[in-house]
Amino acid sequence: MSDGSFPFEALRRAPDIEGPGLVASDAADRLILDESAAARAGLGDGELVVIGDAYGALALGAVWDGAQGVRVHQDALVGERALASNADRLGLDARVTSVATQGEELLRGARVVLLRLPRSLDALRDTAALIAGHADPEVVVFAGGRLKHMSVAMNGALAAAFERVDVTHARQKSRVLVARTPRPGITLPEPAAARDGGVELRAYGGTFGGARLDHGTRLLLAHLPGSLDGGSSDDPWIDFACGNGVVGAWLAVRHPGAYVWSSDQSAVAVASARATVAANDVADRVHVAGDDLLGLRADASASFIALNPPFHSGAAVTDQLAPRLFADAARVLRPGGQLWCVWNSALRYRPVLERVVGPTEQIARDAKFTVTVSTRR
Ligand SMILES: C[S@@+](CC[C@H](N)C(=O)[O-])C[C@H]1O[C@@H](n2cnc3c(N)ncnc32)[C@H](O)[C@@H]1O
Repeated sequence: MSDGSFPFEALRRAPDIEGPGLVASDAADRLILDESAAARAGLGDGELVVIGDAYGALALGAVWDGAQGVRVHQDALVGERALASNADRLGLDARVTSVATQGEELLRGARVVLLRLPRSLDALRDTAALIAGHADPEVVVFAGGRLKHMSVAMNGALAAAFERVDVTHARQKSRVLVARTPRPGITLPEPAAARDGGVELRAYGGTFGGARLDHGTRLLLAHLPGSLDGGSSDDPWIDFACGNGVVGAWLAVRHPGAYVWSSDQSAVAVASARATVAANDVADRVHVAGDDLLGLRADASASFIALNPPFHSGAAVTDQLAPRLFADAARVLRPGGQLWCVWNSALRYRPVLERVVGPTEQIARDAKFTVTVSTRR
């Protein structure tokens, strides 16, 4: 045990956006750590697992208290990178390992799981099933969040996988649910499935839009031209921030023989997009990658990028995310290459697209969304 208390204020969100009202840790993180302190005290090396940590407060707070060999899964790649740089800065990196997917590798032998409750009930159901199926039978799960993001249905989602669920007292508008005794025979539910827009859609819990074609994305697809530059194996069309993978699958189904690169920074989106692509029999032509921005794509290499940009950072709605994505699309497009984008009209992204990418034309607009094409200067 260390003498001092964990320096929460030293945590940073970078490389995620930072700014007023955007915090790296909150009262729910502190409550999860406090409620789990006694259970964590007796753990051996590798027996603590953390899921849904935003920027490292839970994992690093536990390491500060003496935990060794902590395995961590974060859905967002930027969260994983922020944790790594926070760990490095605090000199705690040797005792934390990030695991890219939730499953046996993450959970085998876990006796305590610290879980930041996801916003999606389906995501909680999936995570609870995976913990129940893979962790030690004696596992205790401390699942906490802010009251404003919690509902009683969350108790039910945990109770579907665990025989006992207790509720702690609220503190600073936060609460922790404590789950014990995994029910036998629990396995990960199949992803949600639907057919829309001429493609099969698949989505694990927590994927943007679920197994549905987003309204804005539908407008974008309806206005894409029948013929597009690129689409070869060395200049694939890019489905940037692919979510459930609908855009990439739609392009590949419409254009037999064309190649697509779909990527997203969310682990659950990547799993869903892979399931979507497989369900449409286009996995040989659509590569799905986990990536922050388009970090894996070379400068000035692409002819076509499609994007429905994100507007959430954790629970916060923000218009600061999209310009980062526009700037990376501009980096990856070759001169003359096109960024096709759909956005909520209230966000007025057109001047930003003009500045960051190049000349921008409005292609369509309905009551809520605007579709634009920007041509790289
Ligand atoms: C509005 S959704 C669009 C999903 C999908 N393309 C569709 O049309 O249904 C935005 C997506 O951006 C992803 N995202 C957010 N930040 C990102 C980043 N830095 N790099 C890559 N993807 C990101 C989110 O995970 C989310 O899946």
